[in-house]
Amino acid sequence: MKAGFYQFNPGFGKKEDNIRKVVSAVKNAEVDFLVLPEFFATGYQFISPDEVAELAEPVPDGYTTEALSELSSERKIFIAAGLPERHGDKFYNSAVLTGPQGFIGVYRKTHLFFEENLYFTPGDTGFKVWNTEIGRIGIMICFDWFFPEAMRSLALSGAEVVAHPSNLILPHCPDSMPVRSLENRVYAITANRTGIENRKAGQSLRFIGKSEIVSPKGEILVRAPEDEEVLMAAEIDPGTAKDKKLNPFNDLFKDRRPEYYKPLS
Ligand code: ACM
Repeated sequence: MKAGFYQFNPGFGKKEDNIRKVVSAVKNAEVDFLVLPEFFATGYQFISPDEVAELAEPVPDGYTTEALSELSSERKIFIAAGLPERHGDKFYNSAVLTGPQGFIGVYRKTHLFFEENLYFTPGDTGFKVWNTEIGRIGIMICFDWFFPEAMRSLALSGAEVVAHPSNLILPHCPDSMPVRSLENRVYAITANRTGIENRKAGQSLRFIGKSEIVSPKGEILVRAPEDEEVLMAAEIDPGTAKDKKLNPFNDLFKDRRPEYYKPLS
């Protein structure tokens, strides 16, 4: 199957324009699974709780999730995409998974980055994996990558493809994802954004692009440039992620020694 990402520069607060842009990018794309950036329809740099309250939405009955479900069903594709979620009186940095039959599930970001901590509640869903007709899909969001436990938890729960909606600012992720994929033998699709947001005096955020798809062997199948709006895709075979063997003596999951990993919990 063909998996892809759409890397672009969303305008802050311009949900309709940003979603229109995604719909137009997908129109001519041949993909079965598409990953969009973190906060793809709202932009990233929130500067007040009121702004978060105004732009966050319930899931699945909100404008953005409904638009994604519609796009999934029209194009018969699966989509993973990030959005600010309102749930009761809490706000989460979330990502939804939609498919041809509509909404499938939501993941709430576990490890909040920087000033996200001012506005959002750390996620309470844990690392979820959905068994779909195109493979077992897990989601983590941006800074989650910095914690090897995130991808490991997804892989141990059976994820074959990890969708990774992102708004990366630090430079380390693109060159680190091959290691995450290699040690867990899973595909990873990082969908980052481009552009600069300087909505707050003295705080200019530059997003580093370089979205990529990485194979279970740690190969970068495609990588976007730093500053280009682009939809890129690669042929992937999620079933190969079931094989954790390195050689006749080593299986990366069977060789684990959890009795010696107690400090991890
Ligand atoms: C990030 O988690 N948006 C860096």
